[in-house]
Amino acid sequence: MRSVDWGLSGKVALVTGASSGLGAHFARVLAREGARVAAAARRQERLEALVAEIRAAGGEARQLALDVTDPGSVAAVLDQIEAAWGPVQVLVNNAGIADSRRFLDTDEESFRRLVETNLAGAWRVARAVAQRLVARDLSGSIVNVASILGLRPGYGESLYGTTKAALIHLTRSMALELVRHNIRVNALCPGYFPTEMNEAFFATDKGRAFIARTPARRLGRLEELEGPLLLLAGELGSFITGAALPVDGGHLVSSL
Ligand code: NAI
Repeated sequence: MRSVDWGLSGKVALVTGASSGLGAHFARVLAREGARVAAAARRQERLEALVAEIRAAGGEARQLALDVTDPGSVAAVLDQIEAAWGPVQVLVNNAGIADSRRFLDTDEESFRRLVETNLAGAWRVARAVAQRLVARDLSGSIVNVASILGLRPGYGESLYGTTKAALIHLTRSMALELVRHNIRVNALCPGYFPTEMNEAFFATDKGRAFIARTPARRLGRLEELEGPLLLLAGELGSFITGAALPVDGGHLVSSL
């Protein structure tokens, strides 16, 4: 296969929530395409293994402690990356939590946690990255990891889906205001991919029956998110902004 230049070589990239699942995969993929990757999350021992793996494969990476719900932690991480490599020009806003429960069982604590991580956390990191880029007159690309549940409701996902829908709206609003500063902002909207967030559910009979009813009759494979991520993150997608790209094996166009 002919190799593709996604326009990421030498770019400083930050992936939030890189300690597991999609975030760890995104960090590996960006490093493979030549970006310098700051892998940030709360669980440092996991990041250590990831950074070692990326370096062993010839990539550049460093680990950072980040809690997206803490404004001081966000500023400290961006300061550390800048001191080492310069400003972050590619942000993958991936940190997120799920909390599936029926609407009638939702409560104050669940609402607060989901909004604080999935929406306010993403906003906080994106705003800080964008402010620093504009102050230095640098271009950039922000990929907010939303979900197909932000594009349509899912049973038991009223709060999670609402945070992702709001993140998609924030993505579009940011795209509108930031394009004149050469900063693109897009949302990646995965369908169902096996990670720690959902593996317990997909191991149950109910979970397996759910997968069997989806149009593709299978979960997504992490590598199927690579092209979409790289297109939105890299220079190859230089005129794409404000998009919400589903990667879901046709799930959204089905009636499930
Ligand atoms: P995961 O649970 O493996 O990864 C989530 C990551 O976010 C973890 O590394 C976790 O430590 C981190 N995180 C959570 N709160 C944080 C905080 N306050 N500060 C810093 N990091 C924090 O789950 P997964 O599936 O990899 O999720 C990644 C993103 O993809 C999430 O935003 C999720 O909503 C989204 N997503 C996942 C789908 C799936 O099928 N796995 C489908 C659609 C969206």
